[in-house]
Amino acid sequence: REIVTYGQLRNITIVPEIEMPGHSQAALAAYPEYGCTGKTPKVLTYWGVTDTIFCPYEKTFTFLEDILSEVMTLFPSEFIHIGGDEAPKKHWEQSAFCQNLIKKENLKDEHELQSYFIRRIDKFLTANGRRLIGWDEILEGGLAPGASVMSWRGEEGGIAAANAGHDVVLTPGFVMYFDHYQGDPKKEPLAIGGFSDLKKVFQYNPMPDSIKEDKKHHVIGVQANVWTEYMKSFEHVEYMVNPRILALSEIAWVNPDRKDWKNFAKRLPHNLM
Ligand code: ACM
Repeated sequence: REIVTYGQLRNITIVPEIEMPGHSQAALAAYPEYGCTGKTPKVLTYWGVTDTIFCPYEKTFTFLEDILSEVMTLFPSEFIHIGGDEAPKKHWEQSAFCQNLIKKENLKDEHELQSYFIRRIDKFLTANGRRLIGWDEILEGGLAPGASVMSWRGEEGGIAAANAGHDVVLTPGFVMYFDHYQGDPKKEPLAIGGFSDLKKVFQYNPMPDSIKEDKKHHVIGVQANVWTEYMKSFEHVEYMVNPRILALSEIAWVNPDRKDWKNFAKRLPHNLM
């Protein structure tokens, strides 16, 4: 509540992300009855992607809708982010319940089962006057009618979603991941990898040419991500964010034909003091 109010006072809306159906190992360590395996997974002590996943039982939807209801009372944002990324389907492939549900709902495969999962959550959020947004994996198996997409594995997901009439936020990993290196790795603090320096961020055009002219209004924003696995202190986070966030603001708010690197570079030092 404190953070939401802090943001509101500065015209900033905080959008919460409640991850599903994957990236849910902590939840399933506490509530293993909503998983597929009948086993209790451990809370992860390392980062990354695991096979642990919510099982699409009715009771799981009740559980998740309870959580989302509580989230909606805390966060007034129109958008609620439901994750949707990096959800390996192994447990669904091995689950008799999931295989039966696939048949019963006339779904083709586990990707369509993920789509079924997200559609149900989309319906719930829409009925509550909110909008669902998720990472571009929610395109797999068909996009839920009300869904908006954050395109992170490149621009393709965002382009496909916008051309299909869905709102999108572009945050492609090849440039908009501020956990990536911004200089020579030999001279920089250890980072996850990649490379995206100030100029590369500045040069990014968040309006891909292959979005049709009459669909361009579906690009509702550009975003940078700062995953903090490699950042032990707030000072390090600031080091990764600044000054790249200034280039992000520039490409989000300045008309592309007025974008000017020299002019930006001249203004930059005033922001570094
Ligand atoms: C992501 O980086 N998994 C969205």
